[in-house]
Amino acid sequence: MPEPTLVLIKPDGLKKSLTGNVLARLSETKLDIIAAKIVRVPRELAEEHYCHMKEKPFFDELIRYIVGEFHKRKVMAMVYYGPGAINKVKEICGATNPEEADPVSIRGAYGRITTKGVYENVIHASATKEEAEREIKLWFEPDEIIEDIYKTKEEHVTSCKKRIWE
Ligand code: PPS
Repeated sequence: MPEPTLVLIKPDGLKKSLTGNVLARLSETKLDIIAAKIVRVPRELAEEHYCHMKEKPFFDELIRYIVGEFHKRKVMAMVYYGPGAINKVKEICGATNPEEADPVSIRGAYGRITTKGVYENVIHASATKEEAEREIKLWFEPDEIIEDIYKTKEEHVTSCKKRIWE
């Protein structure tokens, strides 16, 4: 059964021009990319994404890192899709702590720990099916994903204001 997983190339990865390297490593999985975009991460999105880390002493630094305060204010968000996607991506990413990660994994090769103890580990990947669903729904609208991976509903939206091309 194919499953989706969320992948974020974090601001340090973009600042260090690692996008190509990371995508090449991920292509070893032979998974499909079914959504991709560059995002300027609002603080609210960052806090929601890391809501389970709220009590950690480094929470504020973690948020400042992911919104791009220390590198570039952008993240590349993608959804990879295929059989065993979550574990296949996790393996190539390596352990969360870059010092413990296999040196040939993405985090082992390119990550570091800051003097304040925050992992700058280049990439985020969902850890479980439940986490993938929560995170994908947080980062993407249904119409930004080219497969129907979760149930949707149709609603008439009238009072919303948005920018369109002039
Ligand atoms: S848990 O509870 O430790 O399993 O949490 P986890 O889901 O792995 O998420 C931890 C995220 O916080 C980032 N981070 C750190 N974790 C632990 N210790 C330190 N010092 C730390 N600094 C940052 C870590 O990179 C995880 O985020 P992602 O985006 O998944 O890498």
